[in-house]
Amino acid sequence: MTIISNGHLWKYSSCIENKNYSFSKEEILKTLSKEEIDEAYLSISKWKNYNPTPLLLLKKLSKELNLNKIYYKDESKRFNLKSFKALGGAYAVEKVTKGNKDITVSTATAGNHGRSVAWGARRLGLKCKIFISEYVSDARGKAMEDLGADVIKVKGNYENSLIECIKQSTENNWQIVQDVAWKNYMLIPTLTMAGYSVMMKEIVDQIKNEEITHIILQAGVGGMAAAIIAGTARYLKNIPTMIVVEPDSAACVMESIKTGKIEKINIIRESLMGGMSCGEVSLVPWEILKNSVNYCISLPDDDIPRAMKLLGNASFGENKIIAGENAAPGVISLIASCNDEKIKKKFNLNSSSNVLLIGCEGDTDQEMYQKLLNK
Ligand SMILES: Cc1ncc(COP(=O)(O)O)c(C=O)c1O
Repeated sequence: MTIISNGHLWKYSSCIENKNYSFSKEEILKTLSKEEIDEAYLSISKWKNYNPTPLLLLKKLSKELNLNKIYYKDESKRFNLKSFKALGGAYAVEKVTKGNKDITVSTATAGNHGRSVAWGARRLGLKCKIFISEYVSDARGKAMEDLGADVIKVKGNYENSLIECIKQSTENNWQIVQDVAWKNYMLIPTLTMAGYSVMMKEIVDQIKNEEITHIILQAGVGGMAAAIIAGTARYLKNIPTMIVVEPDSAACVMESIKTGKIEKINIIRESLMGGMSCGEVSLVPWEILKNSVNYCISLPDDDIPRAMKLLGNASFGENKIIAGENAAPGVISLIASCNDEKIKKKFNLNSSSNVLLIGCEGDTDQEMYQKLLNK
């Protein structure tokens, strides 16, 4: 137990099993269709500078945990935006505007989604308005301004920034490109997820004939998790065990899985895992997640800096990996699961397991990244 612990006990706050689990590829592909998934890959793979992000092996960690393989999809290398989000917002901008330069696009964001929308707008020469709450760091705001967007700071939290975005967009006839769905606003969030599903196409090409047995999926509003699950329904023959991980202060997917319906939770403390600090699962992802997730895990923030450091100094594998705070929960969940014999058995994690972790972002906020590494 040298690499992993040095006496440190990795743990999570809670773990539940989905009583409504019934994975059906057909049902999943009704929400995000094969055609939508294929079209996203066809479009995005033609973008300038498109390259699949690396699929790394965490060999030291798999040896220590006595698992066959641990794959880490390294989204820190996604274009120059350093997160999987680059695939979603920018793709939705392209699809919905069809490159019409008279259209101004808008969005509300905690950072990475807005960066993708701003980047997508700049690619096509469109104007872009980004609404951020007062809690979004100046560095994140500036990153979007550098991509040519007008950034509008709104008093209050994310929800306030979304309300202001909807208000001004309605008044000015701007096209809202939001990653979160609401009643009668489903198409664009679905396109965003279709963009994210490109990760799974790359992964199936990268694993060649290996089988993935488990996937650990971070969730905020659930878009990324649902997109990866839809990608498995589209591309994989087998059905891996799906484990969703969330901050314990914002476990909205877990709470919804518990009751079988969308539950809104009150976020009292903002998690360090900022992109995952969401109080309500989005409608479109929920349609996929409700029956296809096997387990939900919630984590405290405590181990995030430690996991980022160990990923960063190549303690888990041969490569030094730049993993932002939203990319770290995958390894924490896996180590904690393997440290608990009962859970390890329940998850069926053993020497034949090939586990996929989604390293969803790099140092998207460099200042924060350095601060956490020096903790
Ligand atoms: C940067 C970032 N934002 C957001 C999320 C959450 O995605 P979603 O809101 O689609 O569940 C993640 C990962 O889970 C992330 O890495």
